[in-house]
Amino acid sequence: MKASSRKWKSSPATCRRPSPSRRTACTTTWTSGTTENGSVPRPAREPGGGRAVRARRLLDCFTYNGGFALPLAPKCKEVIAFDVSEEAIARTRENAAKNGVTIDARVGNVFDELRGLDRLGERFDTIVLDPPAFAKNKAAVANARTGYKEINLRALKLLNHGGILVTCSCSYNINEGAFAEIVYEASVDANVDVTVVEKRMQGRDHPCSSASPRRTT
Ligand SMILES: C[S@@+](CC[C@H](N)C(=O)[O-])C[C@H]1O[C@@H](n2cnc3c(N)ncnc32)[C@H](O)[C@@H]1O
Repeated sequence: MKASSRKWKSSPATCRRPSPSRRTACTTTWTSGTTENGSVPRPAREPGGGRAVRARRLLDCFTYNGGFALPLAPKCKEVIAFDVSEEAIARTRENAAKNGVTIDARVGNVFDELRGLDRLGERFDTIVLDPPAFAKNKAAVANARTGYKEINLRALKLLNHGGILVTCSCSYNINEGAFAEIVYEASVDANVDVTVVEKRMQGRDHPCSSASPRRTT
């Protein structure tokens, strides 16, 4: 997975008082990285060092080997994690057992699963979206924007009032401003007031050239 060269940036939490007719949500926006073996829960994966997570129900989408679900599980009453890869989900289950946490790890396509959860009336306090890079090249940007908007919109609809969306992009062809715009558009369509409480960049395990993305196709 490619990663940006920029360092973490953060802004203070400034949750606005909700208007009666609109739900609110907070987003933590990341460019993401992932470990080769996701078996070790890392405090760095905890949004706001873990403080920001409202810990009742967590939905970890695109979990891979449980990179977010594992460190957050001890703070949550229930964790559901999805990945399309059977192998990844098997590893997530192994990792959960090794770390003594309970994760309901399911094989599924997140695009379908988010719709299905909404149909079932399921709601979550924290949702993590850490998809693969949807825009691996410039030609893919338009479709990628549609994909990012779709999952962010669906996730915002599934959040409880005041919930937290941790939304990630590792598409270097979609810059921070463009990604923020996508999340904003999703929030408008979802009719949710969103406050950005924190922005992060990739960890030390994903160094990349300062020339990125200039030399990409
Ligand atoms: C960026 S990695 C996730 C990294 C993980 N969140 C972590 O912290 O280590 C993307 C994951 O998305 C999965 N994936 C790709 N397309 C998917 C889809 N449509 N639905 C569910 N999972 C998908 C891949 O199998 C891969 O494990």
